[in-house]
Amino acid sequence: MPGTWWRGAVIYQVYPRSFADGNGDGAGDLAGLRDRLPYLARLGVDALWLNPWYPSPMADGGYDVADYRDVAAVFGTLAEAEALIGEAHAAGLRIILDVVPNHSSHESAWFREAVAAGPGSPERERFWFRPGRDGGPPNDWQSIFGGPAWSRVPDGEWYLHLFAPEQPDFNWTSPDVVNDFHDVLRFWFERGVDGIRIDSAALLVKDPDAEPDGLDPFTDRDGVHEIYRGWRKVTDAYPDRMLVGEVWLPDQERFARYLRPDEMHTAFNFDFLNCALEPEALRKVIDTTLATHIPLGAPPTWVLSNHDVVRPVTRYGRAGTSFDLQDRQHGAPTDRVLGLRRARAAALLAMALPGAVYIYQGEELGLPEVEDLPDDLRQDPIWARSGHTDPGRDGCRVPFPWSGDEPPFGFGGGDPWLPQPPDWKTLTVEAQDADPGSMLNLYRDALALRREHLGDGSLTWLPSADGVLAFRRDSGLTCVINLGAEPVPVTGEVLLASGPLQDGLLPPDTAAWLR
Ligand code: GLC
Repeated sequence: MPGTWWRGAVIYQVYPRSFADGNGDGAGDLAGLRDRLPYLARLGVDALWLNPWYPSPMADGGYDVADYRDVAAVFGTLAEAEALIGEAHAAGLRIILDVVPNHSSHESAWFREAVAAGPGSPERERFWFRPGRDGGPPNDWQSIFGGPAWSRVPDGEWYLHLFAPEQPDFNWTSPDVVNDFHDVLRFWFERGVDGIRIDSAALLVKDPDAEPDGLDPFTDRDGVHEIYRGWRKVTDAYPDRMLVGEVWLPDQERFARYLRPDEMHTAFNFDFLNCALEPEALRKVIDTTLATHIPLGAPPTWVLSNHDVVRPVTRYGRAGTSFDLQDRQHGAPTDRVLGLRRARAAALLAMALPGAVYIYQGEELGLPEVEDLPDDLRQDPIWARSGHTDPGRDGCRVPFPWSGDEPPFGFGGGDPWLPQPPDWKTLTVEAQDADPGSMLNLYRDALALRREHLGDGSLTWLPSADGVLAFRRDSGLTCVINLGAEPVPVTGEVLLASGPLQDGLLPPDTAAWLR
């Protein structure tokens, strides 16, 4: 059906700085990505979501945007971005850009103008500038990256930043802000972009002057929906475009509000990402997801990883397999063999569920989290702002290993911006390509079958033994995942399994697709 490609799509997340380096400066770029489009087409994905590529001082990996209508020199040029979009389309790949509406960079033109214009100026109305209180900040809000959410400019006023000080928050009551973002969406839609990922989507509405009302002062305030109704109108003026929101909310009913027919098309399912690999917990998350999405006609999404979370192979190899943004369990003992086995099973589960699925670059290689990066190379602002207690997210952003026996593993010419572990030589695309049992080939096989039999639709749970989840999809394909301690019998012809069956039985931590 035209206009609904995202409903059952497989969307591959490219972290441009770490995907492929075309000019040998140690950072990935658009030239590198353009060269690697054949790899992505062969993998069998439908669309690419690119993390921010805009000019930025990179205080938060590009989530500090200085200009929403251009491309950072480190990645290339606007002309190259346009070429990339055309080439991706020719290869059958749609493009989703990351738009960051909660905050800009302190080096954006608007923020510089605001600082220069001084207290009380209309330029300051686009942000949240306030006088201090009792010699301190205007209120006690804390930054999500740690420390106070307010910093001072030289004339003594304070400005709000829910993230790093280099990321001043926009004031969404300002018509300038509303109109400018509509224009940014049009700018990229005109250039052929197929979708927009909305960063920190639940945080835009806040009122630092309001008396506390017992609710979270800046997460999921009711007024935020009006913003997305406006975005949806802009988006609907172009055929086949979609919005996907980064909405971290524990309450599914509140989450679902973002998916009403006049708001976003889809949102990331973080409950599924956070969930422990345990049958009851997973079954509950899946059921709740379906129950909240289906009445709205919105397709669920299934996400196992992204650039903010611990890599699945590492997480699933630990005693506790759930994920919590507030506590990354850095350095907790992990069994990489077990973690890989479970990550393979989880991938078959995620890809079999009804809706769209997101794959973060390197997930298809089974890359582990790199937990032993030298401290002086860490770049995530969480590291400094947590007083060096939380190492942050660099460990899942290490440059991609393509080929060869030693770093930079075909990533590019120079030293990659974060060092790759030497033992990644067994995890390169080249190494896995040749091995029919590799994670890469599991992903390829699964995506090929998924294209034929899975995607958008619904599921029917099947009776199953303790510790086992089993469901049938509309096409008749069934997915069984054994998270119990004993091998279990399965019925039907095995089309694909995440690990070998033993005497016809599905072993623990293994999933299979059957007909
Ligand atoms: C989102 C991004 C994250 C970024 C933050 C602030 O959560 O995924 O990487 O640091 O927003 O923009």
